[in-house]
Amino acid sequence: MPKIRNFSIIAHIDHGKSTLADRLIQTTGLVSEREFRDQILDTMDLERERGITIKSNTVTLPYVRPNGEEYALNLIDTPGHVDFSYEVSRALASCEGVLLLVDASQGVEAQTLANLYVAMEHDLTIIPVINKIDLPSADVERVKGEIENELALDADQAVLCSAKEGMGIQDVLEAIVERIPEPQGDLEAPLAALIFDAHYDSFRGAIIACRVFDGSVKAGDRIRFMSNGAVHKVEEVGVMRLKREPRKVLKAGEVGYIIAGIKTVSDVSIGDTITLDEDPVADPLPGFREVKPVVFSSIYPVSSDDYPSLAATLEKYKLNDAALVYQKDSSAALGQGFRCGFLGLLHLEIVQERLEREFDQSIIMTVPSVQYRFTLDTGETVTVENPQYYPDPVHIQSTEEPFIRASILCPERYMGTVMKLCTERRGQNPRFNVPIPGRVEIIFDMPLAEVIYDFYDRLKTVTQGYGSFDYEVTDYRPSDLVKVDFLVNGERVDALSIIVHRDRARAWAVQVCDRLKEEIPRHQFKIAIQGAIGTKIIARSTISAFRKDVTAKCYGGDITRKRKLLEKQKKGKKRMKMVGAVSIPQSAFVAVLKTD
Ligand code: GTP
Repeated sequence: MPKIRNFSIIAHIDHGKSTLADRLIQTTGLVSEREFRDQILDTMDLERERGITIKSNTVTLPYVRPNGEEYALNLIDTPGHVDFSYEVSRALASCEGVLLLVDASQGVEAQTLANLYVAMEHDLTIIPVINKIDLPSADVERVKGEIENELALDADQAVLCSAKEGMGIQDVLEAIVERIPEPQGDLEAPLAALIFDAHYDSFRGAIIACRVFDGSVKAGDRIRFMSNGAVHKVEEVGVMRLKREPRKVLKAGEVGYIIAGIKTVSDVSIGDTITLDEDPVADPLPGFREVKPVVFSSIYPVSSDDYPSLAATLEKYKLNDAALVYQKDSSAALGQGFRCGFLGLLHLEIVQERLEREFDQSIIMTVPSVQYRFTLDTGETVTVENPQYYPDPVHIQSTEEPFIRASILCPERYMGTVMKLCTERRGQNPRFNVPIPGRVEIIFDMPLAEVIYDFYDRLKTVTQGYGSFDYEVTDYRPSDLVKVDFLVNGERVDALSIIVHRDRARAWAVQVCDRLKEEIPRHQFKIAIQGAIGTKIIARSTISAFRKDVTAKCYGGDITRKRKLLEKQKKGKKRMKMVGAVSIPQSAFVAVLKTD
């Protein structure tokens, strides 16, 4: 039996995690050079394009040391973005050690720190690995200094490598074997396995990725999820090599997969403990929590006819993404749609892109919202994330909004601009750390609502790409909120309503009115566009009357050409939404959401 090591790679985005993973896969001979293709662990095309690892993935690497000893190295991949930090924490809880990958030219960044803290919380062995030493701009000494000073790790222990060029890979493998402890666990104890990932297979249903801490599990066992007591019969267990490889049994210390006839990944909770129904463990493994969406938006099909298709698509999509929640929603302006909850803005963007690209859906998404809290005069507290359910202002006693602890790491010279940006976004209580000379960590308490829209883009712009951002939701704080509605020719367009801080209301209203003015074509009458809080108008624009005669271009009497144009105009109207007597093109809804 080969000995086992369970490890993960943590790194800031783009520091080379996927490249190193691929190189380890290739070096250990799991795939031949010919089969080797870039970034094997990032299986989704979209991920490869965005360069972001979205879903965790696992692979068991067969490693034979130069002295002939055989090892099974379980590499547990982790998603690399703040939206997925809970998944990261469960993946790390399944390991004994991590490779902390730092780019030799970029040095230590915010996400590196955040992940490192999680690894430290789990008492993992940390092996610093300095990657990209082949780059001309590599500055190994500076990065070693950062590793010592910022991370308080022994830089002499750092392994140097170039994942791209294949330098130092053997050293990385040896360091894993020598420094990361062998997994401990009691084979005779009742089964306790930690679920750190799940994905959907159209033939087998949910495939659970787990780490067995105690006991063992095999096909035929009846397993129980400790969070909800659900019992399933195990069909197959095994390990992941690029494909699934069935095994007779998964034992304490091992990492592998379980298939148990579970229909969707929504029936599987990451962080849950699996035990045996007939011989359950007394306590679940620590750290379980239910993942809750924090950002909400409604999705509507561009053409109402496509609603059934969108419904079917979401159902299918959900099979593989337990973090997405949705329910039916409807709007007078946009018809039938769905209200969706996401882990964060990146998650929202991923869902949007995949729906459009993989599933070929044309959709409109409403302005993302967070979940607000209202205390009513009855004493009742309600949470509202959909402006449609904004309580009657007469009954609102107090309002609160979610706050985050935002941490931004950037070179010192950008401190002023970052401070300004955060203050504009209602940031409070700034704190600073200077982890090493020249770099500053700026910490603010900020409303979540202020970062879900375009904060990250703005940060990248003002820091010329050098700023990195990490956050966690901390608490709810009192806030002065209002609901802004938009009226076109006196009719409220519900899909455009938004809940915002009072100070933000006017600027937003002006922007939306201007954009609508650009997007809505002239009609035969004058159209007033208004932004309003209750009955108070806070912004307006006007579209003057115009008699649109598409046939005007047709000089002479070419009747067929005229008819064609009229046909075209009719079709165009289909993509319009009627609000009262005004037809609003779909593009107007999209334009309202555009950031620039
Ligand atoms: P995310 O998945 O976005 O977290 O990124 P990652 O950390 O997985 O980085 P990835 O492996 O995608 O590498 C990012 C970029 O760095 C790619 O363009 C790689 O080709 C490049 N890269 C990775 N390792 C090396 C290296 O050792 N040397 C050089 N020069 N480039 C490298």
